[in-house]
Amino acid sequence: MTTLGIAITGSGGSTPNTRLDNDTLSQIVETSDEWISTRTGIRQRRLASPEMSLSELAAAAAQEALEMAGLSPSEVDLVVLATSTPDDLFGSASRVQHRIGAPQAVAFDLTAACSGFVFGLVTVAQFLRTGVYRNAVLIGADILSRWVDWSDRRTCVLFGDGAGAVVLQRTSPEDDGLLGFELRSNGAQNGCLTLDYSHRSHALVENLEVSQGNYSRIAMNGQEIYKFAVKKVPEAIEKALFRANLTNEDLDWLLLHQANQRILDAVAKRLNVPSEKVISNLARYGNTSAASIPLALDEAVRSHQIQTGDTIAASGFGAGLTWGAAIVKWGGAA
Ligand code: ACO
Repeated sequence: MTTLGIAITGSGGSTPNTRLDNDTLSQIVETSDEWISTRTGIRQRRLASPEMSLSELAAAAAQEALEMAGLSPSEVDLVVLATSTPDDLFGSASRVQHRIGAPQAVAFDLTAACSGFVFGLVTVAQFLRTGVYRNAVLIGADILSRWVDWSDRRTCVLFGDGAGAVVLQRTSPEDDGLLGFELRSNGAQNGCLTLDYSHRSHALVENLEVSQGNYSRIAMNGQEIYKFAVKKVPEAIEKALFRANLTNEDLDWLLLHQANQRILDAVAKRLNVPSEKVISNLARYGNTSAASIPLALDEAVRSHQIQTGDTIAASGFGAGLTWGAAIVKWGGAA
């Protein structure tokens, strides 16, 4: 089987206009700007209006990425939407495909919580490397404000809404921009972070019941997730670097899931990556789940921090538990 390469040729981001700062949050739960900013680094987050759809947010990010790549939507073969908060449990990727005007593309959702973007990147790369598809759009998008328990100060201060996207295009093996990766899951710790189905029995006829339910709210053991992230993320990045035949000194940027500034700092310290190479925008957006990595990537590209040819270690981690790392080169020709 042929093994081709992938190039990341465009990025985009989209966030709702409404901002919720820490002071306003302290009117909702017993907290303070001081507690939130020192423990997490978050100062504000964006919130989707009740009318806004996940597909709308995701499509806006995808359109920006396509424009940057100079690619017409009609040329897109594959749309992958990494999300845990679809508009429709059957999936929202095809709504995004329709919104961006990519009728030729096959579209599907991928769920891996805050690791969704990295898992999606590796998934899309398989289709491109085997030569099956030429052009793909990968979107990470989440509206967690719809699923947060707004009376739980341990979780509601952390999350925000947003979408980020990249265009991935097939390229020659020599120009491959995915240098190495590592993906992991551990269901034994699933209970540490959940958005569970909530069971309610419904009798159809005598002695025959089915469950009719809903999803409850995000529940998290913050300390366990913190310990998990600080240990497992550096390990995954080191494995991915090893496969790429690189060391941490070869990295231009560390682009982690934007969950907590303390996690970013601790991972960078373990990997011996200086703080000026750590991309961080969580002060302004909080944890936007699957959107956080592509959103931060897009900002860093548009502000000319990240330049063509730069080597980036991207790592997502979260519910599942899932975690993963990908060593990628930004830019390049399709
Ligand atoms: N405001 C004020 N006080 C608070 C708040 C708040 N918002 N939240 C918790 N506290 C209190 C607690 O009640 C506790 O008080 P107590 O000692 O009187 O009981 C105290 O602060 C310390 O609580 P801890 O939970 O020990 O605080 P910690 O320093 O661990 O920080 C945090 C909590 C920020 C959640 C941290 O554990 C963390 O970031 N964990 C990782 C979470 C994460 O990244 N999750 C996302 C994964 S991504 C995904 O897949 C969705």
